[in-house]
Amino acid sequence: VIDGPTLVAAAIDAGLVLDEVFVTSGADSAVLAQAAASGAVVSEVGAETLARAVDTVSSQGIAAIAPRPEVSLDAALELAAAGPLCLVLVDVADPGNAGTLLRAAEAAGARAVLFCGSSVDPTNGKCVRASAGALFHLSLATSGDAGHALEGLARQGVCSLATVAHGGRPYDSVDLTGPIAIVLGNEAHGLPSAICSQVDERVTIPMAGRAESLNVAMAGSVLCFEALRQRRAQSIGDSPA
Ligand SMILES: C[S@@+](CC[C@H](N)C(=O)[O-])C[C@H]1O[C@@H](n2cnc3c(N)ncnc32)[C@H](O)[C@@H]1O
Repeated sequence: VIDGPTLVAAAIDAGLVLDEVFVTSGADSAVLAQAAASGAVVSEVGAETLARAVDTVSSQGIAAIAPRPEVSLDAALELAAAGPLCLVLVDVADPGNAGTLLRAAEAAGARAVLFCGSSVDPTNGKCVRASAGALFHLSLATSGDAGHALEGLARQGVCSLATVAHGGRPYDSVDLTGPIAIVLGNEAHGLPSAICSQVDERVTIPMAGRAESLNVAMAGSVLCFEALRQRRAQSIGDSPA
């Protein structure tokens, strides 16, 4: 379910084929026209009906139903191999964190994100909203078995980096120019030790204060943008003077 005029417009702009669009009488007419022009079936419903269908406190007069955006694990692994980076979420439970990670990953040039283990469903309404439309531009795959996904990444020649709050190599001393997979763990428990032993490298964002760890979406965003910074530095270095 895609809720609100901004997200519905972003989905149409991204070329998503909407199954159906539901609007109330006061809906944003520009988005409504865009939805109708895209070929979606548009139905008018009462405000209370729409509010029940979407899980926001106040719905914004328009919501759409779209097919699940997932690709197969193999397809996502191939995209990861094409680089420059992908994210692997292992047991990431909070939909706001997952959506924020999608937003940061897409902004930093990722093309695929793997939702592994017991990670939240990427189509969770809060995740879709927190992704701010990034979800529509990424290839998402799910795999109950994170170890299996990491094996696939290794076969494709992707360097996997487990993010750990302590004891890893400082993140800015690791080559992140790719293709890399940044592996992020559960909000309370971090990454399982089996996953930490399976990866190519463990990386840590050194902390100077008293925090035991960073929020997972914050840590993932820092890594994504360090990877982008390194690629930009490399391309500036490579370009003729
Ligand atoms: C809140 S932390 C988990 C804390 C947990 N108590 C632990 O020991 O790992 C959630 C995730 O954020 C990432 N993370 C948090 N702080 C980090 C840091 N300083 N460096 C690298 N990754 C970090 C890791 O992916 C971690 O699994």
